[in-house]
Amino acid sequence: MNSSIEEIRQKALSELEAAEDADSVESLSVAYLGRKGRVTGFLRNISSLPVEQRPAAGKRANEVKKELEEAFANALAILSASPQEDQGIDVSLPGRPAPLGNLHPITLITRDIARIFESMGFGIAEGPEVESDYYNFESLNIPQNHPARDMQDTFYVRDRVVLRTHTSPIQVRYMEAHNPPVRIIAPGKVYRCDSDLTHTPMFHQVEGLLVDEKVCFGDLKGILTAFVHQIFDDEIRVRFRPSFFPFTEPSAEVDIQCVICRGSGCKVCSDTGWLEVLGCGMVHPAVFENVGYDITRYSGFAFGMGVERIAMLKYGINDIRMFFENDIRFLRQF
Ligand code: PHE
Repeated sequence: MNSSIEEIRQKALSELEAAEDADSVESLSVAYLGRKGRVTGFLRNISSLPVEQRPAAGKRANEVKKELEEAFANALAILSASPQEDQGIDVSLPGRPAPLGNLHPITLITRDIARIFESMGFGIAEGPEVESDYYNFESLNIPQNHPARDMQDTFYVRDRVVLRTHTSPIQVRYMEAHNPPVRIIAPGKVYRCDSDLTHTPMFHQVEGLLVDEKVCFGDLKGILTAFVHQIFDDEIRVRFRPSFFPFTEPSAEVDIQCVICRGSGCKVCSDTGWLEVLGCGMVHPAVFENVGYDITRYSGFAFGMGVERIAMLKYGINDIRMFFENDIRFLRQF
């Protein structure tokens, strides 16, 4: 009788191995473990065995029952799960493309500007956006209460601490830390209390500074003309118009021939045929003295330009706010 529970076990396991789907496992389970199943029947018949065989036979039959219950349950889990998963993943389908971002037009233009100056030997410097009154104004020859401060409407963080209104403080910080020769550009965000079609409270500038022995205004004109020709185009005319900045002397404004009407006059250039693109000049001796440079030996020039302004002219955009509204349809075009 004991051998027959082993036979039942063997048969159940080999039939289970042959089972190909969940349904056949179910019916095997009924055939062996159901109310009229073979294991159940065996257990029921134990009472008909000789008394001394009953405990061992009962123990073994219960072990087999447990083993088969587990084997059926496992087989059922595997067979009922896998067909559904096979249907869910079709590895032959093309993948779903992940959306790719693109660089912001201001980043692109800043990189273009940097690349041009890098090719002329300029390195890149940076400085803090929250700046002291000293670096933003005083060291640049703009004393407190001087009317020149009105040129730049300033956000004050607290007394004598400002959001930098231009990238020029980086000049001073750089010269304090390095001896000449100096040849840097300094890109970065600047802040002014100003908002309309062509001004936003935050915008971007690129500062430039070159200091060495025997640097003259002709060097300034040559470098900036080469820059304008590369960022716009070779044919564009450039003019240097006298201007004023407290930290440069002499100072100039660089104008380019209007990129829209090519000089004949239009709305963009207010019928002048010219567009102002950057400010520049020879570094004022007072600035050199503030950083401890020998003014009898060194001279240099500085310039500063608005990145948004260059981008607007280059791409023909007439509202500066478009750069910051984050409309993806606009930003995707660059
Ligand atoms: N810092 C000036 C501005 O923001 C630009 C400038 C830089 C002019 C360097 C001359 C030299 O308007």
